[in-house]
Amino acid sequence: MSQHWSEYWEQGHLTSFGTDFSSNYAGILKDIWLPIFKELRPNFEVLDIATGNGALPLLLKNYFDESNINGRVRGVDIAKIQPIKFDADNSIKIELIGEVNCESLPFSDPVDLVTSQFGIEYSNLSASLKTVANILKTGGRLSLVCHHHNSMIISRNKQVLLLIQSVTTKKLIEKLYSLADSMGQVTTKVDINRIKNDQVCEVLRNDINQLIGELYESNEAALMDSEILNYVTTFFKQGLYWSVDKKNDYLKFVQKQLSDLALRLEELVCAAIDETKLASMLKILSNERVEFVSATTLKSTDAQLLAWHFIFQKALK
Ligand SMILES: C[S@@+](CC[C@H](N)C(=O)[O-])C[C@H]1O[C@@H](n2cnc3c(N)ncnc32)[C@H](O)[C@@H]1O
Repeated sequence: MSQHWSEYWEQGHLTSFGTDFSSNYAGILKDIWLPIFKELRPNFEVLDIATGNGALPLLLKNYFDESNINGRVRGVDIAKIQPIKFDADNSIKIELIGEVNCESLPFSDPVDLVTSQFGIEYSNLSASLKTVANILKTGGRLSLVCHHHNSMIISRNKQVLLLIQSVTTKKLIEKLYSLADSMGQVTTKVDINRIKNDQVCEVLRNDINQLIGELYESNEAALMDSEILNYVTTFFKQGLYWSVDKKNDYLKFVQKQLSDLALRLEELVCAAIDETKLASMLKILSNERVEFVSATTLKSTDAQLLAWHFIFQKALK
């Protein structure tokens, strides 16, 4: 399951929201962390679970950049990751380690704070929460921003999933393959005139327009989120003079992107936390002497539900 995440992180994204937060989390998904970071004392140790390309460690480093507090944040992720390089001289040391399952960590240095943003809920919580509880110092905190089963993120992505798995999307890709074949090699203006006047190409172009219209009518927002329109535009613009083989390779790439996206979205929907899962998290943690502090919901500026925010603390005795 980590393969599609490895491929996603290899593309250089900083968060799992693609271009939505291209230069790191902002708004409430950033602000929620500032009071948590503020509690850290010099020489702190932080562990970020399911860190991806290190968005949260980077937020923490930026928070402490102006201070003279030093500390270390280690991030782990089950996927292969491609984090940006951090300055080794900085007073905040960042170590990001890929191909590490948070259900059983390869180190046991006690930490003051364990964090996760849309991460730990993808793991087997019975195992990962026990592991986290064992690594927390007495009095140490566990702060988790997790997917909420009723959030707008989940409902929006369920719509994207429906759209990319629809018969209409499959037909659209098939028609693009047929058009690539029917166009043949396009290298000159004469070829452009030829394909403009070609009956088969004309019918295929109309079919493609109609299918895009259907996707648009069925769910405009999901169509925009899915990147399908960008792929089609690339095919017709940059791809116009590509060889038939290159066009076919590009369409294979698009199919792979869409199937990886579907896998990530299916996992996302399964990972979301409802009240029953929350109750079982509380039970697992309290068995490990990690006490519940708070569960709040995060909302966007237009009052849409975004996520849960849970805080727990390792019992003093
Ligand atoms: C939605 S992404 C979030 C990444 C990052 N926290 C962020 O906010 O950008 C979920 C991540 O969880 C990772 N993951 C899933 N199961 C995991 C596990 N058992 N152990 C460690 N990481 C895991 C995936 O590889 C993926 O990178």
